[in-house]
Amino acid sequence: MKIVIVGTGYVGLVTGACLAEVGTEVVCVDVMEQKIENLKKGILPIYEPGLDAIVQRNFQKGRLQFSTSLAESILGAEVAFIAVGTPPGEDGSADLKYVLQVAETIGAHMQNYLVVVTKSTVPVGTAAKVKGAIANALAARKSNLSYDVASNPEFLKEGAAIDDFLKPDRIVIGVESAQAEERLRKLYHPFVLNGHPILFMDIPSAEMTKYAANAMLATKISFMNDIANLCELAGANVNEVRKGIGSDPRIGNKFIYPGIGYGGSCFPKDVKALVRTAKDYGYQLRILQSVEDVNDDQKNVLFNKIKKHYGNESLAGKTFALWGLSFKPNTDDMREAPSLVLIESLLAVGAKVQAYDPVAMKEAKHMLGDKITYATDAAGALTNADALLLVTEWNEFRLPDWKQVKENLKDAVLFDGRNIYEAKELAEKGFTYYCIGVNN
Ligand code: UDX
Repeated sequence: MKIVIVGTGYVGLVTGACLAEVGTEVVCVDVMEQKIENLKKGILPIYEPGLDAIVQRNFQKGRLQFSTSLAESILGAEVAFIAVGTPPGEDGSADLKYVLQVAETIGAHMQNYLVVVTKSTVPVGTAAKVKGAIANALAARKSNLSYDVASNPEFLKEGAAIDDFLKPDRIVIGVESAQAEERLRKLYHPFVLNGHPILFMDIPSAEMTKYAANAMLATKISFMNDIANLCELAGANVNEVRKGIGSDPRIGNKFIYPGIGYGGSCFPKDVKALVRTAKDYGYQLRILQSVEDVNDDQKNVLFNKIKKHYGNESLAGKTFALWGLSFKPNTDDMREAPSLVLIESLLAVGAKVQAYDPVAMKEAKHMLGDKITYATDAAGALTNADALLLVTEWNEFRLPDWKQVKENLKDAVLFDGRNIYEAKELAEKGFTYYCIGVNN
């Protein structure tokens, strides 16, 4: 089967590489020439563990190709995935400009029956718009070629995307014809040999499923952050409460870790977009609006603890060592990262930041420039700093040499935004230790 994937961003590239890996003939298309040239040389635009090896292997075998021409690539394709960006507009709604442009180009150049699948996270009703855009383009060339649209949202976690794609919990596909269903079932068959289901449903339900999944996960996090804040006031320890509730299988022990707020390219954008969609239908998603409000506040939690610790002492001129910049470990993604909010707050009061991240330094420099200084390793960030801030829980920060940390810092003060250290152990080693959701 030959397929085309339009958009070589995160989703498009992972999808293309993984489909090629099981033997499908894939052409990944992007308008950015430099990106396509780089991909042909094996240079990837993003950091994702394992992706480079899969891209290189399948490119060399000729199963994965890269092109800037959608018009040429679409010829003979049986399925076309649209995986271009849907950046949030000012009002939080997803901007469908690029999705619909691609649909038009497909309609203008396709030569055979085609299933056109939206893979980008798009609001309910987008597949219908894609269908309309293709119909218009076909009408303009007086063609009566038949085609189907479908919706196939992705559930990829950055840092674990290859595994998520190759061994999915489920594959959700919205279709409106038996022919499209059959074709997509064939395409995805190699990925459900583990017995997990392909869930076929109507198109609006598939589109809604993606938002509902992300909204539910974001809700779990904001709920726990809210409880964590109350724990601090009430003298409880959220680390114990988390275990206490997580062992109830109806609640589950995943995604209930308090922290400094969720970030990344999905949760913030999708929560906003769903709230917006509801408004368009005259409905208020009250829980989800609160999820967003709690998250905005939570990004300031560490800064508030810093201010409280220093009391009347000015933060101007103080230096903070910051470990971890990306929004979560195993990615270089800085989008909506809590680190950015914390850094801006510190800089605004005249403090200095010395940061280190195992992978995201390049991205961070791109966004923050010389507003902060960048250390070459974790220990380097500590030199002459007044305190250490743990922002992203990369593995390499989990077991530090505490003696060295203490020697390098001016004061043994540690603010842990991810609750990865043992309060008791640090107290014994002479640290003043703060974390989330514990009365300290
Ligand atoms: C998410 C979804 O998991 C994925 O299914 C969807 O397709 C895209 O969005 P991703 O954004 O890559 O994936 O990150 P994820 O691992 O889900 O983490 C999101 C954010 O939540 C991170 O900032 C993380 O630090 C935070 N988080 C996660 C918590 O604060 N507590 C938790 O218990 C779990």
